[in-house]
Amino acid sequence: MESTPAAWSEADSFLAETLVGPDAELEAALTAQRAASLPEIEVAPVAGKLLNLLVRISGARRVLEIGTLGGYSTIWLARAVGSEGRVVTVEAESENAAVARASIDAAGVGDRVDIRVGRGADVLPTLVGGFDLVFIDADKESNTIYLDWAAKLGHPGTVIVLDNIGREGEIVRDDSDDPKVIGTREGLRMLGEDARFDATALQTVGAKGWDGFAIAVVV
Ligand code: DHB
Ligand code: MG
Repeated sequence: MESTPAAWSEADSFLAETLVGPDAELEAALTAQRAASLPEIEVAPVAGKLLNLLVRISGARRVLEIGTLGGYSTIWLARAVGSEGRVVTVEAESENAAVARASIDAAGVGDRVDIRVGRGADVLPTLVGGFDLVFIDADKESNTIYLDWAAKLGHPGTVIVLDNIGREGEIVRDDSDDPKVIGTREGLRMLGEDARFDATALQTVGAKGWDGFAIAVVV
């Protein structure tokens, strides 16, 4: 096989069909998100399931998500925390939050999910800490702010997942003037240098092209 974006996407579909399977609630969430013209940048099905597994493997009961979008990843996280668990998810756009609210409720996990509408920099200081897992998937320009709050609102052992660390390889460009690339690089540098974190990162290819995610633990 030639390594092309189309081949990555086809292999990703195969993995999703084989390991994730059909899912009426998640498909309805995507349909609602597309109908509302939200950007098609939610996590891929295999990545949503990875988030779900990381919550279960770590035993996380309190999860913080930064960047709700249409609630697709939120549903994956909310399913994983169990009926006694809670997900707080922060969304800057009220239109997105409304789409997410409806889809999360329709998925049957609405009682576990608290959507806070506002900019992360405004909302995060108002939250009570104690989060066991934090998923950061919002404006890349603010990654260092979000990582700082993830450490403050977490505890030793808190798992942090940071989306979109590959950016089609652009992360190697130290002269980039793309604010998203600059923010991604700053987040990665913080994960490497800040003593509060121990981290690694994995590149991915798949339905969303060439990208990746970082995984960290609060030490
Ligand atoms: C972008 C943001 C995302 O969270 C994502 O998963 C892919 C792309 C973006 O803003 O470009
Ligand atoms: Mg993302």
